[in-house]
Amino acid sequence: MNPPKSVLFVCLGNICRSPSAESVMRKLSQNQGLGITFDSAGTANYHTNEKPDTRAIKVGKSLGYDLSTLRARQVSKEDFYRFDVILAMDENNLTNLQKLQPTDGTARLELFDPTGQAVADPYYGDESDFVAMFAHIEQVVNARLDAWQ
Ligand code: 4NP
Repeated sequence: MNPPKSVLFVCLGNICRSPSAESVMRKLSQNQGLGITFDSAGTANYHTNEKPDTRAIKVGKSLGYDLSTLRARQVSKEDFYRFDVILAMDENNLTNLQKLQPTDGTARLELFDPTGQAVADPYYGDESDFVAMFAHIEQVVNARLDAWQ
């Protein structure tokens, strides 16, 4: 499968799952030289301009991912023309994106995990939920990058 030129990851708040996925895919794709642009956004605007959740920054750092420079933003209709692929972290995110999607939008919209499993929202959990979230994200990112080789 041809790699896309740009990928947008979308969750609810853009402070836990999607910035983590953005960081993991940016780092793990580096040595493949694909030249892909990555970004992330939330379907909600609760956390606009905020840094990722401190637990995501901490656990990410321990695994070698730097989330500290990322800032939250809400997804917009324009994103459906700007990005080749938009990846929703769970079914609710996908449903909300389908409602926002312009009929002539050019982005391909799909679930982040092609097996159909949601990336569990760790926001109301503890650090171990963030560890599990990163493990799930790394597994999916590795599978997607294999498919783009
Ligand atoms: P995320 O997690 O969608 O993975 O960023 C959440 C962040 C914030 C909230 C819910 C989920 N919240 O309700 O504020």
